[in-house]
Amino acid sequence: MNVVILAAGKGKRMHSDLPKVLHPLAGKPLLAHVIATARQLGAARICVVYGHGGEQVRESLDAPDLVWAIQEPQLGTGHAVLQAMPLLAAVPSAPTLVLYGDVPLTRVATLQALIDAAGDDALGLLTAHLDNPRGYGRIVRVDGAVTRIVEEKDADDAERAIREINTGILVAPSAALARWLPTLGNRNAQGEYYLTDIVALAVAEGLPVVTTHPDADWETEGVNSKLQLAQLERVFQQNLAERLLEQGVTLADPSRIDVRGELVCGRDVSIDVNCVFEGRVVLGDGVRVKANCVLEDAVVGAGSIVGPFARLRPGTELGREVHVGNFVEVKNSSIADQSKANHLAYVGDATIGSRVNVGAGTITCNYDGANKFRTVIEDDVFIGSDTQLVAPVTVGRGATLGAGTTLTRDAPPEQLTVSRARQVSIPGWKRPVKKKKD
Ligand code: UD1
Ligand code: MG
Repeated sequence: MNVVILAAGKGKRMHSDLPKVLHPLAGKPLLAHVIATARQLGAARICVVYGHGGEQVRESLDAPDLVWAIQEPQLGTGHAVLQAMPLLAAVPSAPTLVLYGDVPLTRVATLQALIDAAGDDALGLLTAHLDNPRGYGRIVRVDGAVTRIVEEKDADDAERAIREINTGILVAPSAALARWLPTLGNRNAQGEYYLTDIVALAVAEGLPVVTTHPDADWETEGVNSKLQLAQLERVFQQNLAERLLEQGVTLADPSRIDVRGELVCGRDVSIDVNCVFEGRVVLGDGVRVKANCVLEDAVVGAGSIVGPFARLRPGTELGREVHVGNFVEVKNSSIADQSKANHLAYVGDATIGSRVNVGAGTITCNYDGANKFRTVIEDDVFIGSDTQLVAPVTVGRGATLGAGTTLTRDAPPEQLTVSRARQVSIPGWKRPVKKKKD
C-alpha cells in the first residue's frame, strides 16, 4: 500500500512563522503523528506532499522510509496527489491511502477498516455524519449509492442540507488514481483541482464506491488554528489518561496530566495533578508522583516518591524508595536506593549511593562556565543543609558534611568535613540606629 500525506497547505490561520504541520501536539509535530500512523499501517511507500517554503518541514522530519513531493503552486487536493504519483511504489494493484498532514488523531483501526472495506479495486471514502456539516464536502447519494462529492462552495441548497461529509481521507486503487488525476479540471467555485472529483469518475467507470466511518469525530478533525490545536491536544491527553487508568494507574484528575512522549508505569503508580511527562519516563511499581512535577527522560525506581514541585531532567535514574521532594532539580544523575533529597536542591551530573541524605539547599556546582564535572557521593553519606559540592569531587562512604560547607576537595569516608569560619560573638556590639528628624 502507498500512503500520500497532503501537507502543502499554508496554514495562514495559525498566525505563526512555523509551518502548520510542524506545530506540536503532545510534544510532537502534527505531521509526525500522521507519519507514525502511516507506519503502523505497514505502508510500502509513504509520500509527503509539501509546499514551497516547506523545506523546514522536510528537514525536520526526513527519514529513510519517506519520499517527498513538492507541490508549487498549490492548485488543490487533486493536484497535490498528482505530484506524488511518480514517487509511489510501481505496483499498480496496490491501493493508495490519502491522509492529511494536519489531521493528527485518526486511529489506525479506523483506517484499517477503510482499507479492508475498499479492498484492491474499490474506492473507499471515510465519511462522517455531522450535525453541523458546514465547510465540508458533502457526500451525494442516489438510492443509497454514492454518486459524487460536492464542495460546500459549489453546492446548492439541497446539497448543503446533506449531513454526511467527506473527511478527506480516502483510499483508491493506484492505477485508477494515475488514470483519473491528470483528467481533473478546475472549473469550480475555487478554481482548484479537486481530489473529490474522482468519486464521479469512479462511478462513471462502474468502480464500486464504499464508505466507512470513524468512531469519533475528533479522529478526522484538522488543525487550522491555535484553538483547534488546543482542542485536539486535550482530546489526545484525555485519551491517554483513560488508557493509563485502564492499566491501573491512579490519576488524581485525568484532565490534569500531560504526557508528551512515552510514559511507562508499573503497578500501583499514583500521579497527582498537574504533572508533565516528556520524552520516555519509566515509573516503577508503587511510585508516587505528587502534584506539579515535570519529568523528562527519567527512570524512577519502585516505591520512590517524587514531588510535589520536583523536576527530573534527562538522564535521571532513581533507585528504589528514593525521595525527591519539593523544589529539587535532578539532571543526568543517579540516586541509589533509599536516598533522599527532600527540599530545595540541585543535583546535576552526580552519582549518589544508597541511604544518602542530601540536606536542604544542597547544590552540585557541576559547571565552571565551560566544562561539566561529576560529583560522586558514596553510600550512607549525610550532607548538611546549604552545602555546595564543587565538582569534580567525591564524598567517601559514610562521610558527613557540616551544614554550609563549600566542598572543593574530596571528603574522606566516615569523617565529618566542614568548611566554614568559626562562629564568633562580639560582646557590647550595638546595631546602628536611624537618626530621628526633628
Ligand atoms: C477538503 C475536501 C473536502 C473535505 C475537507 C475535509 C477537496 C476538494 N475537498 O476541503 O471535501 O470535506 O477537505 O477537511 O479535497 N492541500 C495541499 N495542497 C493543495 C490543497 C490542499 O497539500 O493544493 C492539503 C492541505 O494542506 C490540507 C489538505 O490538503 O492538509 C486539505 O486541504 P484544505 O484546503 O483544508 O481542503 P478543504 O478545502 O477544506
Ligand atoms: Mg481548500
